[in-house]
Amino acid sequence: MILDGKKTRSIWLNADGWSVGIFDQRRLPWAVERLALTTVDECAHAIADMATRGAPLIGAVAAYGMALALRVEADDAALERAYRQLLATRPTAVNLKWALDRVRSVVAGLPAAERAVAAYADAAALCDEDVAINAAIGRAGLEILQDLATRHPGRPINILTHCNAGWLATVDWGTATAPIYMAHDLGIPVHVWVDETRPRNQGALTALELAGHAIPHTYVVDNAGGLLMQRGQVDLVIVGTDRVTRNGDVCNKIGTYLKALAARDNGIPFVVALPSSTYDPVTADGAAVPVEERAPAEVRSLEGPDDSGTLRRITVTTAPAANPAFDITPARLITEYITDRGRIVGATALADAFRA
Ligand code: MRU
Repeated sequence: MILDGKKTRSIWLNADGWSVGIFDQRRLPWAVERLALTTVDECAHAIADMATRGAPLIGAVAAYGMALALRVEADDAALERAYRQLLATRPTAVNLKWALDRVRSVVAGLPAAERAVAAYADAAALCDEDVAINAAIGRAGLEILQDLATRHPGRPINILTHCNAGWLATVDWGTATAPIYMAHDLGIPVHVWVDETRPRNQGALTALELAGHAIPHTYVVDNAGGLLMQRGQVDLVIVGTDRVTRNGDVCNKIGTYLKALAARDNGIPFVVALPSSTYDPVTADGAAVPVEERAPAEVRSLEGPDDSGTLRRITVTTAPAANPAFDITPARLITEYITDRGRIVGATALADAFRA
């Protein structure tokens, strides 16, 4: 997609052929800064500190983290050390473990001397597959938008989204945003309500993405969605997810559940976009998902540039604060899943689709 007027992915191999490039998402949307990741430690830190984020992109960075580790030391102990270090970075998005398992299984049977090359090749393949998968999710979701456009001719289709499940959270396209980009490119008028998504304000990343693609959008506080739905100003809610459990429960950024409740109360379709790497058949239900508890300081403060452009953090309160980063939307509130295997209704069909 487009950043700073240039077409780009969210992750790339640098011209040196081995270091890994990402955007520093702690600086976006105020500044576009690139980071070169040169070691497994740097990859682990980038994920843990949220320089890079979003379930599929975390998986991609972790895959390259394995390659960077194996480049230096590639015996079984080093392989296991890198796997454990990267796995410990963040607990909720299952794509992290999925990517690490994938790379480990590709290289484990190889002689140590061949492991780094194989890991790099697999990380690159994983990235290319992520782009194709998101395009397939986009085509599935596009059907929904085309149907809404037919039913509401002459006005934009209003979509509400939460957090950032866009191209910055994946390798390209995004999951929740792919159908929106495709609809816009086909000339279907769309308008996106962008939840700010406190405390990390990932909605600002979504707004940046949509602006880069000239898609009409409006940034709203997280609690605005209910009123917008009551007023008939939302036709569809589309969100991404960090983990979908065996029974179809959806773990996503904190606040997603409340949007699903409001959507159900107002008869608005609530759609979850997911790639197969986000489906977790091992975890029975949402209650068993490890929900990341982040630092209370994120809730107590706001961050942004001052008039001189220097990034500042200001404290809003010194009150005790809690910061659960994700919540669980029960499967019963989800109208349908849009996946790389098409549109799917119900947890049983979802399990069947991803088993196939
Ligand atoms: O804490 P983050 O910013 O990594 O959380 C990201 C989200 O919750 C996204 O909505 C989710 O990963 C879906 S990404 C396609």
